[in-house]
Amino acid sequence: MKMIITGGAGFIGSNFVQHMVNKYPDYQVINLDLLTYAGNLENLKPVEEKPNYKFIKGDIADRGFIFNLFEKEKPDMVVNFAAESHVDRSIADPECFVRTNVMGTTTLLDACRSYGIKRYHQVSTDEVYGDLPLDRPDLFFTEETPLHTSSPYSSSKASADLFVLAYHRTYGLPVTVSRCSNNYGPYHFPEKLIPLIISRALADEELPVYGKGENVRDWLHVADHCQAIDLIIHNGREGEVYNIGGHNERTNLEVVKTILKALDKPESLIRFVTDRPGHDMRYAIDPTKIETELGWKPRYHFDTGIAQTIQWYLDHQDWWKNILSGEYSNYFDKMYASRL
Ligand SMILES: NC(=O)c1ccc[n+]([C@@H]2O[C@H](COP(=O)([O-])OP(=O)(O)OC[C@H]3O[C@@H](n4cnc5c(N)ncnc54)[C@H](O)[C@@H]3O)[C@@H](O)[C@H]2O)c1
Repeated sequence: MKMIITGGAGFIGSNFVQHMVNKYPDYQVINLDLLTYAGNLENLKPVEEKPNYKFIKGDIADRGFIFNLFEKEKPDMVVNFAAESHVDRSIADPECFVRTNVMGTTTLLDACRSYGIKRYHQVSTDEVYGDLPLDRPDLFFTEETPLHTSSPYSSSKASADLFVLAYHRTYGLPVTVSRCSNNYGPYHFPEKLIPLIISRALADEELPVYGKGENVRDWLHVADHCQAIDLIIHNGREGEVYNIGGHNERTNLEVVKTILKALDKPESLIRFVTDRPGHDMRYAIDPTKIETELGWKPRYHFDTGIAQTIQWYLDHQDWWKNILSGEYSNYFDKMYASRL
């Protein structure tokens, strides 16, 4: 089995690459990543010398490059994590979200059609469903919930999902789609809420919290997300969407206070800042389908998962300090320039 995992130098992709390389030594894993600001090869250190792992730098939206790569490698499976993933950046500059998230996806789909594939898996997000009201805790996103996006980011992800499903219906491409709630865990880029709060709190810096911090997210440990995708690509039904979430809803303010308590830092560091435009209020996943069909269950409860995650950031301060200083972007040159 030869797999191309795109976006494998990002947060979730690098956790998934490590999961697959270690769990399936007989699979050839190719990590294809453009190494944008969010890509960090230091995330792959634990597997970079393994014989079943290879890194290739490239752009999923570069048609000539992608077709050449498929011609050469003839992958059996593609798992597409590559994306522009930060909502705030999509509000500032929507265009590159269309290019990578939509056109990058259709480029990969076209290459899969041309060269044949056993499975194409699209890693999507619960943000395609829009949001739920705070005063209806009985409501959850199911796979049948209509797409109703709020941000340029979620609109680009929803658009990509529709192309993936259309390629199944129109061309019979063997695809699956997963829509996961917010992830947390090791290798999370420090612009996102949890690592941002940990790194700033450790430096006794002010902690920006949007609005009143009331927005609710359904937090899932990244290892549980990786296990869910592993199950879907092997046992999921073609043409199907699977929601992934573990019923761990927390307001942003609760998350921030949990981190402050664990680090023994004062709540006076919290600064409420002007809310993000169009900010989604609540996300909450109904994971019944993946639980009943594929037997998936999350291993982490938020309380234990967040404690372990905070410890990981304490133990890996060089990792996130390198990112904050910009040093991480030199890693490719250090590791690979002499090998090219
Ligand atoms: N982070 C979450 O909580 C979450 C939740 C649900 C779904 N997702 C989805 O999971 C996927 C991964 O999210 P993440 O948080 O790990 O993102 P990330 O921003 O940490 O990583 C994205 C990776 O994609 C790479 N990339 C960007 N543009 C590329 C291009 N044109 N060609 C090749 N590589 C490119 C980047 O270099 C980076 O390594 C995304 O598709 C995202 O929509 C994320």
